[in-house]
Amino acid sequence: MRPCCVAHVASAHPLVPATSPTVDGARVRLRAVTAADAVALLEISVYDGVAARTESDAGAQIERIAGDQARGETVHWAIEEASTGMLVGTVGFYRGFAGGVGEVGYVLRPAHRKRGFMTEAVALAVAYGFDVLGLQAVVAHTDATNGASIAVLERCGFVPAGANGGQHTFRVDRPT
Ligand SMILES: CC(C)(COP(=O)(O)OP(=O)(O)OC[C@H]1O[C@@H](n2cnc3c(N)ncnc32)[C@H](O)[C@@H]1OP(=O)(O)O)[C@@H](O)C(=O)NCCC(=O)NCCS
Repeated sequence: MRPCCVAHVASAHPLVPATSPTVDGARVRLRAVTAADAVALLEISVYDGVAARTESDAGAQIERIAGDQARGETVHWAIEEASTGMLVGTVGFYRGFAGGVGEVGYVLRPAHRKRGFMTEAVALAVAYGFDVLGLQAVVAHTDATNGASIAVLERCGFVPAGANGGQHTFRVDRPT
């Protein structure tokens, strides 16, 4: 864990696009997040551990994440159910790409869990990280009690790579 007195310095990646590209899977589509998504994303919007409470908060968080992406530190996608276009969650790389390693983060709106959407979305994001960004590895940090999150990671080929208290790290390396 980072010492609390040391500011986080994100590492930009030169191949991060200004606007996240659309990535199509079988059941989900990843697309760029827009300001119009604030209402739908309100219930799952969190930035730096602070949850959005209003549509305006959610909009401000979308803008902050867009700023992170403009600096090459983030790739942020909305996840749509392919068959309906419904916005079901978000996935992306956050907190920079130091050492060619991306950190994946993800959240589904509660009504859209347990349908396999996130397993496919994380797999698409990881493939993008390897194929387009040329990452060496992707990691994820998740609470040891978050069984649903760990199951998503295991289904996507991640393996345990360390723990710090209740926070567990999972990692998948670039295929050789
Ligand atoms: C973590 C989180 C995204 C996992 O969501 P999820 O719905 O369990 O994950 P998926 O969308 O991949 O769905 C997988 C489940 O759908 C089931 N499923 C149902 N229909 C399915 C289908 N057609 N295809 C695939 N899986 C299907 C799977 O069996 C699986 O359930 P199981 O784990 O009980 O076996 C969700 O709990 C969440 O948003 N939590 C809050 C945010 C969070 O914790 N993020 C991670 C921080 S690192």
